[in-house]
Amino acid sequence: MRYQNTPVVLWSNWRLKTAITKTFISTNMCGIVGYIGNGNVYDILIKGLHRLEYRGYDSAGIALVGNDGNLKVYKAKGKVSNLEDYCKDKSLEAGVGIAHTRWATHGEPSDCNAHPHYSEDGNLALVHNGTIENYKVLKDALIQHGCKFHSETDTEVLVQLIEYIKVKNNCSLVDAVREALNQVVGAYAIAVIEKDHPDTIVAARQSSPLVIGIGDDETFLASDATPFVEYTKDVVYLKDEEIAVIKKGEPLRILNLDNRESTIDVKTLELSISQLEKGGYPHFMLKEIFEQPITLRDCIRGRIIEGGAKINVNGINDNKDIFLNAKRIVIVACGTSWHAALLGKYLIQDMCRIPVEVEYASEFRYSNPVLDDRDVVIAISQSGETADTLAAAMIAKRMGAFVFGISNSVGSSIPRETDSGTYIHVGPEIGVASTKAFTGQVMVLTLLALGIAQLKGTMPQEKIAEIGEEVLRIPDYVEKVLKLNDEIEHLSLIYTYARNFLYLGRGYSYPVALEGALKLKEISYIHAEGYPAAEMKHGPIALIDAEMPSVIIAPNDHLYEKIVSNVQQVKARGGSIIAIVTEGDTEIKNIADHVLEVPAMPECLTPIITSIPLQLLSYYIAINKGKNVDMPRNLAKSVTVE
Ligand code: M6R
Repeated sequence: MRYQNTPVVLWSNWRLKTAITKTFISTNMCGIVGYIGNGNVYDILIKGLHRLEYRGYDSAGIALVGNDGNLKVYKAKGKVSNLEDYCKDKSLEAGVGIAHTRWATHGEPSDCNAHPHYSEDGNLALVHNGTIENYKVLKDALIQHGCKFHSETDTEVLVQLIEYIKVKNNCSLVDAVREALNQVVGAYAIAVIEKDHPDTIVAARQSSPLVIGIGDDETFLASDATPFVEYTKDVVYLKDEEIAVIKKGEPLRILNLDNRESTIDVKTLELSISQLEKGGYPHFMLKEIFEQPITLRDCIRGRIIEGGAKINVNGINDNKDIFLNAKRIVIVACGTSWHAALLGKYLIQDMCRIPVEVEYASEFRYSNPVLDDRDVVIAISQSGETADTLAAAMIAKRMGAFVFGISNSVGSSIPRETDSGTYIHVGPEIGVASTKAFTGQVMVLTLLALGIAQLKGTMPQEKIAEIGEEVLRIPDYVEKVLKLNDEIEHLSLIYTYARNFLYLGRGYSYPVALEGALKLKEISYIHAEGYPAAEMKHGPIALIDAEMPSVIIAPNDHLYEKIVSNVQQVKARGGSIIAIVTEGDTEIKNIADHVLEVPAMPECLTPIITSIPLQLLSYYIAINKGKNVDMPRNLAKSVTVE
C-alpha cells in the first residue's frame, strides 16, 4: 500500500486540475481472473471465479474474445453459479478472457454494476479490484467529452477513460492504460482485453493484489494463485505501479508507469490443488476445523527443537536486539485476528514481562498513536490484505516502530510491507469464518512469547521446556477434541432456535469467548456477545433468563474457582449453560446443563483447545438453520475496504 502525503495534481493534459490530498488508499474486495492460451477459456475462468468467490459474491461476470473477433460480455447478479446458469445457452468460444466476482462498493449488486465493464464502442472490456477515488471528477470530464455511462461504478469510468485516450492519441492499449493510470487516484488490480487484439491482456496493479501464472504456451492472472495452481507453479507477483503485457506466444513484459521495463522475478508456488478442495467434507469450514491437527503440526514444525527445550522462531532470532530492548509491544488486527492478538497480549505479558497493547487496526490508524523506535508493532492478518491492518502497520513503520507481521498468505501485502515477520503455515483458509487460521495465529503468538521469554530470561528454562513439550502434543489434543463432533452436533439441535447467546470466559478464556461469539454471529446470524465472565454482574446479568443460553469457557486454570461462582450466578437466574471444562471436572459438571470436556494442559495453551468445540457448535447451529456457512451474507474473506 502506498503512502502519499503530498497533493496529487491531475489532469494537466485535459486542462482540468483537481488537487487531492491522500493519506492511505484502500481497495475494495472482489476477485479477478484472466487467461490467454489454448485451453478452454470459459471453463478455466469459471473455475477460477469459484476459487476467488471468497473475495465477494454479489455478482460475477466474464468477457471473452473469440476467434470471430467478437467481444462477448456476460454478467449476473449473485454467485458465480448464477453466471454459469446465465451462460448456458451463450456462445463461449474464445482465445482470451477475463472474469470477475464482486463485493459491491460503488453501486448496488446488480447485473448492470457487475464487471466486466466495457467501453462505449464495445472495443475494450475491463475487470477491476479496487476503488478509483477520483472517479467522479473523471466521469464528469468524460461526460463533457460525450461519453455515456450505464452503471454507477467507478470501474466503468476507468475503461471509458482508457478507450478515450486510446482513440484520442491513436495509441496502443498498453500506452492508453499507462496514460489512464497516471490520471487515476486509487487502488486497482485490473485486466483489460481488446476486441481487435485477441492475443493480448494488459494488467496492472496499485495496492490490490495481482499474480501472473506462467504456463507452457498459456498465461494466467488472478487476485491470488488459487485459480491456476493446477496448471502452473511459476508465478510473478506484480508490484505497485507495474503494468504487465501478456501476449500470446511472447514472453511476459512488465513496464512501470514511466514506461521503463521491469525485471521479471519468477517465484515457485508452494500450494497444492488438494488444499483448495473440500476433500469430501460438505463445507470448507468443516474441512478446515478438522484439518487443525495437521495445520498446527505444520505451524509448529521446526519452531520447537531439542524436544521442547529450544524455541526457534526465525523472525525473533533474526531481530534479537529489537525484541530484547522493546519497551512496549502494540498488536494491531481486525476480527478473529484481533481475538488472537488479545491472547497474544496475555501470553507476552505473562511470559516476557513486556507491556502489550492491543488495538483494532481501524481505530489505531486514526487515533494519532504515540510510537517511537523502541516500540514493536505486531500486525496480524490471515489474508495479509486487510486494509485497516495494512494501514496501521504502515503508520507504525513511518513513526519508526519495528513492525512485525503475522500472516498466512505468502506474498501478500502485510508480509511485503513489514520489517520482519512470520507465517502461520496453515494452508489456504477458504471458509469465510476463520478457524484454522485462528488456532495457527494463537500458536505462533505462543511460540513468539516463549521465544522472547527464552531470549530475555523472563521464564525459567524448565518451565519453557515443559510448555514446549506440551506444545508438541497440541495436535494430538486437538484430534481428541474433534471426537466431540457428534456430541456437539446433537447439542446444536437443542440451541438452533435460540435468538441470543452469551459467551463468557476469564483470563485466557475471555478472548476465546469473544471468538466463539463472533463465529456464531457471522455464520448463523444469531446475536451473540462475548464477555469477561466477571463483568456480568455489572450489567449483562440482567439479560439472563430461560431464553438466554450462556456458553462458558471454564478450563481448570488459576481462575477456575472464580468462574465456578460466575456459573452459579447465571444458573441462579434461570439461564441454561453449555460449559467447556477440563476432563475430570466435577464442580461445573454439577451446575451446567451440558459440558464438553477437553484435555488438561498448561493454562496458556488452553485457548487453542477450548476454541475448537465453539467452532463446531457455531458450524452445526448454522447448518441446522440452513445457512451458507462458507459464504455468509454480506461478508467476504479478505476485507480490503475501510
Ligand atoms: O485476513 P484478516 O485476518 O486480516 O481478517 C480479519 C477479519 O476480517 C477476519 O478475521 C474476520 O473477522 C473473519 N470473518 C472472522 O471469522
